[in-house]
Formats: sequence, structure tokens, C-alpha cells
Amino acid sequence: MLDGAASLAQQLPVSSADYPLPAGVFAETVMSVRHFTDRLFMFRITRPRSFRFRSGEFVMIGLPNALRPIYRAYSIASPSWDDELEFYSIKVPDGPLTRHLQKIQPGDTIIMRRKPTGTLVHDALLPGSRLYLFSTGTGIAPFASIIRDPETYEKFDQIILTHTCRQAAELKYSQDVVADTLDDPLVGAEARERLIRYPTTTQEPSSMRGRITSRIESGQLFDDLDLPPLSRSVDRCMICGSMAFLKDTKQILEARGFVEGSNSSPADYVVERAFVG
Ligand code: A2P
Repeated sequence: MLDGAASLAQQLPVSSADYPLPAGVFAETVMSVRHFTDRLFMFRITRPRSFRFRSGEFVMIGLPNALRPIYRAYSIASPSWDDELEFYSIKVPDGPLTRHLQKIQPGDTIIMRRKPTGTLVHDALLPGSRLYLFSTGTGIAPFASIIRDPETYEKFDQIILTHTCRQAAELKYSQDVVADTLDDPLVGAEARERLIRYPTTTQEPSSMRGRITSRIESGQLFDDLDLPPLSRSVDRCMICGSMAFLKDTKQILEARGFVEGSNSSPADYVVERAFVG
């Protein structure tokens, strides 16, 4: 007899058409998978017809490989108008979910809880003229959604997307997403004029080396882009990445008088704490 979820997980393949799905979840099909490095990959799944979300939100996803599947919070990287849902993930060799998830192939099944949520949404920010999207690692994912959403260009004159990773190869996803955005029939024209990508690496020589936090504090970011220093009166910020990065960036913003916003109380900046790094 099977002894709970672990032994069932060992016996079932990653995707099993016969597996009885847990109640209250969507079962969706993997449409494409792309690996960037041995630590990073993205995948796209079908979108349930009834599933609505706001760009920047996350959802709990898992695999149908256990009696009690393991779910993790994943930001939806595709914009809210897209027919498919895109996710960007780290591969953790011993990670309870990602050690299996990294092996998915087109045709496999992903399970997804029904309710999206999150704070990296336009609703949680007060109006402003410039939107800074600060990210590290896979924290780029919600911003891949935000920059492809027409609402972003309706609400802000300028959008600055920063992405910091250890190695240059880890910047490939954001590079490609931005390139696609600039070509996009829906937002491309606006993005070409108003979206700025600012990538930096921290552990590999590059022309843009250093943590974004250091570049904010030294003023280098603003010098490089010919922009004024951060100001609560016109700038709005979203932050997504590792815990240490969230903490340091939050401190920088609060030292400049920025107030944290939420869905119920929009303000100057927002942070996603449910992010899985
Ligand atoms: P660093 O290499 O200097 O630690 P990780 O892979 O650990 O999540 O880190 C992703 C990126 O985030 C790395 O480039 C890392 O820089 C950077 N980072 C980590 N902690 C902070 C922090 N407290 N402030 C700014 N950037 C950070």
C-alpha cells in the first residue's frame, strides 16, 4: 500500500492523465518550455477560459504527482490579455517542486489554484509619472507582465525596468522579453519611446557591474539614464527579488519618504513578499 504523498510522487510520472485531480484547481497543459541556464527556465501553459488576473499578480502552481501536491507561488509573467500563461522559474536540485518542474515537457499537466493575488499591481500605486520596476533574479517575472500591459503606458510616461543577476547569462530572459515588448503590436510603439531596461551583473565582469541598490545610492543609475534622483512626488516603484534585496531597497525608498502601498491603501511603492527565489 502506498504510504502518503511521497511514495505516490515517486511512483507517478510528472504528468499523469489518469491522476485524480484535487478539487478546486485548474489542470492546464504545458505548451512550451525554454531553458536559459542550468538554473533558470520558462514555460507557458494553456489559460483557463474563466481565469482572470491583474498583470503583476501571482498564483499557486504545482504538479499532479502526489496525493497532496506541493504548490508554490509563481508570478504570472504574461500580460493579462494573453491567451497563455507564462512563468519563469529557478531550478533547485533538491527543491520539492522545482526538481520535478524543471523536467516538464509540452503536453504535460500543471495544476493551478484558482485565485490569483498580489501587490505588484497598478491598483496598489498612486498616480505618478515614472514607474521604476526593480528586480533581481526570477523577480523579473511579474514585471515581464507589467511591461506588456497597455495600462502601464496609459498610467506612466516612463518605465524603468532594472534587472540584476549574478551572471550575464541570467539576464537573457529579461533581454528577450523586452525585445518582444518593443516589437509587440499592442504596446510596442509606446514601449519603444518609454520603456528603459537597465540590466546589471554582480559576479561577472560587465559594463554594468554592481548591485542596483549601490547604483541608486551612488546616483549612478540616474546619471546613466539622465534622470533626476528618486522623488516621491513623481516616481512610483515596484520591487521583486530576494529577501535581502527587498529589505535594502525598501530602506532606500523609505529614507526618501516613499510610503508602501497595498491593494486596500495605494501609495508610492509596492513589494511582493510571496516571491519564491
Ligand atoms: P550579489 O551577487 O552581490 O549577492 P541571488 O541569486 O542570491 O538571489 O541574487 C540575485 C542578484 O541579487 C545577485 O546579483 C545579487 O548580488 C543581488 N542581490 C542580493 N542581495 C542583494 C541586496 N541586498 N541588494 C541588492 N542586490 C542584491
